[in-house]
Amino acid sequence: MSDVSMEKIISLAKRRGFIYQGSEIYGGLAGTWDFGPLGIELKNNIKQLWWRMFVQGRDDMYGVDAAILMNPEVWKASGHVEGFSDPLVECKKCKRRFRADHVGEKCPECGGEFGEVRQFNMMFQTQIGATEGSVSYLRPETAGGIFVNFKNVVDSFHPKLPFGIGQIGKAFRNEIAPRDFIFRVRELEQMEIEYFVRPENWEESFEMWRQNVHAFNEAVGINRDAVYELEVADGDRAHYSKRTIDFEFDFPFGRKELYGLAYRTDFDLKAHQTGSSQNLEFQDDVANDKLVPHVIEPSFGVERTILALLTSVYTEDELGGEPRVYLKFNKAVAPVKAAVFPLLKNKPELVAKARAVYDMLKKDIPQIMWDDNGNIGKRYRRQDEIGTPYCVTIDFDTLGENPDLLDTVTIRDRDTGEQERISIADLKARVA
Ligand code: GAP
Repeated sequence: MSDVSMEKIISLAKRRGFIYQGSEIYGGLAGTWDFGPLGIELKNNIKQLWWRMFVQGRDDMYGVDAAILMNPEVWKASGHVEGFSDPLVECKKCKRRFRADHVGEKCPECGGEFGEVRQFNMMFQTQIGATEGSVSYLRPETAGGIFVNFKNVVDSFHPKLPFGIGQIGKAFRNEIAPRDFIFRVRELEQMEIEYFVRPENWEESFEMWRQNVHAFNEAVGINRDAVYELEVADGDRAHYSKRTIDFEFDFPFGRKELYGLAYRTDFDLKAHQTGSSQNLEFQDDVANDKLVPHVIEPSFGVERTILALLTSVYTEDELGGEPRVYLKFNKAVAPVKAAVFPLLKNKPELVAKARAVYDMLKKDIPQIMWDDNGNIGKRYRRQDEIGTPYCVTIDFDTLGENPDLLDTVTIRDRDTGEQERISIADLKARVA
């Protein structure tokens, strides 16, 4: 278990504008969270990193962005209408409901007896159009939108096996007990890949994606020592899977699932072939045969990535004899890449020069922040707390008070606190 406390992470996330409670001024809505100005930057950086690494950066991958609302037949065919459920128990005394696998014999609230365990379907139902009874669902996984576009992508791009389709988007699950901040939510975002393979080759692709999951974690900055692979046992796997690895992470509340990697066989394409009466066979011109491809599915939750990352980068140390808190984000994910300060905010010539440096950086690196509030020490601490890798200060030497230092600035490193004098001309390369 991580020794960082959830209270500290939640409090920093809220105070500094990363993550707020959903609908907070109305008392909140369980299982929903809103991303604030820094949270959305962090989230976008993570999604972009994933997209570049697994979609744009590869020749065997295609991206899609499918509708969240889908024909309800999709979820009948995939087995979700029938079986996407968690076991639910209700206390006979206080009528509170719990996930049966999260509680013991008695109600944790009042000690009452539980009734029979029943299955609770986690899909959110909604009505389509004005006709009563035309029910559909908010998608419970982004995978569905990929499977229904398999034929479209094949017809448009004529890929060779193996190839994959990736999607990032919202999914919705009516969790019985949302909990642990953004770990288990009702509205979530997934980054998923369905990687289509010949059945005889599934193991090598499974292994390739197993390694890629670790490569992504490393690129994001998630602590490798806190990630564990759990081979999911026969009876515990989802209905479609023949092999699953859960990538678990040591969160502050215990070791829990971060991502999943599943061998979904040809379950989905075959099910959609039957459900839609469309031929989803693939003509393999290399092997010269027709087949319904099998699928390897790495599935990444965005919220869990963020929580594992915050747990990994939250750091407390002492700098200059003072305790401090900082987030050790790497440059790729840091929501702010650098902050620019004029040494004094009441000296127009310093402010003008600092503005010019800020504008120059911001033109090419949008995630730059301006700060002229309070003394420099306080500004450093504020930037440390949001994980800004560099602080750039414009002082009188920048203006040429010491002619040797004209057009140079001090750049301060977040982790070491060390300051260096560099030329404005070299700033962009250092910060980017
Ligand atoms: N398409 C496969 C699939 O959806 P899953 O194990 O149910 O598999 C995949 O979910 C990932 O989505 C999980 O590993 C986790 O990262 C994320 N996830 C699932 N349910 C979640 C929830 N209620 N809150 C936050 N993240 C969730």
